Amino acid sequence: MDNIRNIVILTGAGVSAESGVATFRGPDGLWEGHRVEDVATPGAFVTDPHLVQKFYDERRAKLKTVKPNAAHEALAWLDAEWKGELLLVTQNVDDLHDRAGSRRLVHMHGELNSAWCLACDARMPWAGTLLDFPDCPECGQKYLRPDIVWFGEMPYYMERIEAALAVCDLFVSIGTSGAVYPAAGFVQTARACGAKTLEINLDPSEGSHLFDESRQGPAGTLVPEWVARLLQD
Ligand code: APR
Repeated sequence: MDNIRNIVILTGAGVSAESGVATFRGPDGLWEGHRVEDVATPGAFVTDPHLVQKFYDERRAKLKTVKPNAAHEALAWLDAEWKGELLLVTQNVDDLHDRAGSRRLVHMHGELNSAWCLACDARMPWAGTLLDFPDCPECGQKYLRPDIVWFGEMPYYMERIEAALAVCDLFVSIGTSGAVYPAAGFVQTARACGAKTLEINLDPSEGSHLFDESRQGPAGTLVPEWVARLLQD
């Protein structure tokens, strides 16, 4: 641990599971109840915009009923204490890392609490519903959509993420199945740039074999343990 200065952490739905936010894959996962093509593609928004808005409105409303868990809090503590470079890259569209206090944070798949106007291209904080197609506060038109990166769209902050991966000494993946690129490929980029790699996940993920070390168990237990050890060292 002596040589570690720059850290990149990738989180997925598993980090929020113990807060009561549904993951995507597996039993009870969001993609068990919905077809990805029906709610998470630009084509779906053209075909059935009401279904898409309702899906994200319900998930946005759910945020008001959940709170950060021990894993989010430990990562915020690490952010506050770590003197080297640190970037927390989340695939999650919930706001639990933000509410826990993480600051060096990017939401690569967008945020439920943000809306994007397809007429004027403005993005704005949004806590209410979009199903009723409200006026855009910027331009007055009714073309607001969830500010979520759908399948077939380019994730946000890729340049910043690639730059951080290129100089990191440690890459840690937490609570993600490794099923969706480009995030699933970050471990290979980090390795190619010389970083040590650690996975923390409830089950073996699709990419477990790519990591130097893979720890299996709940993030709410394993992440605070890992952070405490890292800060102690
Ligand atoms: N602690 C740690 N890991 C957990 C926990 C937990 N308490 N509960 C579940 N997991 C693990 C599961 O074993 C699974 O491997 O979290 C992972 C969640 O995987 P997915 O549901 O596939 O979620 P994620 O990897 O974030 O999905 C990536 O897919 O559909 C898209 O855009 C969506 O950002 C999402 C992307």
